[in-house]
Amino acid sequence: MKKKIMYSAIQPSGKLTIGNYVGAVRNWLRLQHEYKCYFAVADLHAITVRQDPEALRKRTLELVSLYLACGIDPSVCTLYIQSQVSAHAALCWTLNTVTYVGEASRMTQFKDKSQKHSDNINMGLMDYPVLMAADILLYQAQYVPVGADQKQHVELARDLALRFNSRYGETFTVPEPLIGKDEGRIASLQDPSKKMSKSETENPNASVYLSDDRDTILRKFKRAVTDSENCVRFSEEKSGISNLLRIYCAFKGCTIAEAEREFEGKGYGTFKLAVGETVADVLTPIQSEQARILGDRAYLNEQLAKGKRSASYAAWKTLSEVYRKVGFYRGD
Ligand code: TRP
Repeated sequence: MKKKIMYSAIQPSGKLTIGNYVGAVRNWLRLQHEYKCYFAVADLHAITVRQDPEALRKRTLELVSLYLACGIDPSVCTLYIQSQVSAHAALCWTLNTVTYVGEASRMTQFKDKSQKHSDNINMGLMDYPVLMAADILLYQAQYVPVGADQKQHVELARDLALRFNSRYGETFTVPEPLIGKDEGRIASLQDPSKKMSKSETENPNASVYLSDDRDTILRKFKRAVTDSENCVRFSEEKSGISNLLRIYCAFKGCTIAEAEREFEGKGYGTFKLAVGETVADVLTPIQSEQARILGDRAYLNEQLAKGKRSASYAAWKTLSEVYRKVGFYRGD
């Protein structure tokens, strides 16, 4: 039986947080065996906001090494860098011609980012979801695991696929978003009403990064916002403690009820230290593996070349079909 196709990507902007790990990368480890998976480092998307070129290049390699260190296996899935497959930009152009300015300008993230980067509202920022649709549609992906904030973009990809198919004939698989389960949603340690962000700049204690060392991790958890009840139990009103419980369970592999029992009668100080240590115990071996891979440039380049070949092959198959459908002369 042919495996279903799955596509996802992460931008090499900012540092990955434990939220990205639990909500995205860690799930991919399981998914890569069930589906035919394409995982990309979305550097074309990253330049829609200003980037320092050297820093972008460095973060791109760090992200690839991190994927590998976490257990993404390039012998079962395709791991590649988006800008190395030129079909993405090419399909984006064609999809632009079936995207209405109105629908692109209504995208929530475009509106948010236009506000946040009001000195740089470039065409790429508005085109961002169309490029994302191109990513997904090029590989005929059926499923797209994303965070809740990207759901609207996957819905646009669906709309564009349906529109293109009805205008030019069946070409694209219509994708579906796979939104992570609740327990994957990890909030900021400083404001539990907000998602833990990898581009957090205001409060350095809000996000725990996969690159944080043990002391930093322990310190951030120690300073996490809680409440005055001093009782470790899960409840909507106790958003800080509930978030810490979710993190603890995600890293420990236990249920909320088990964790509540473990910390019964114990204070927040003990609990926070245990959360920090549990997270650090998982991250430390990943960090040393990432450093090892980063140091082996020949291996990294070899894996990336392989990923590029495999992605390009699938992408060009779709793109040539699209070019034929829209009426470009193909010389045959
Ligand atoms: N926009 C996504 C994010 O910031 C990253 C991304 C780019 C992506 N292309 C994609 C995700 C295609 C899923 C499918 O999280």
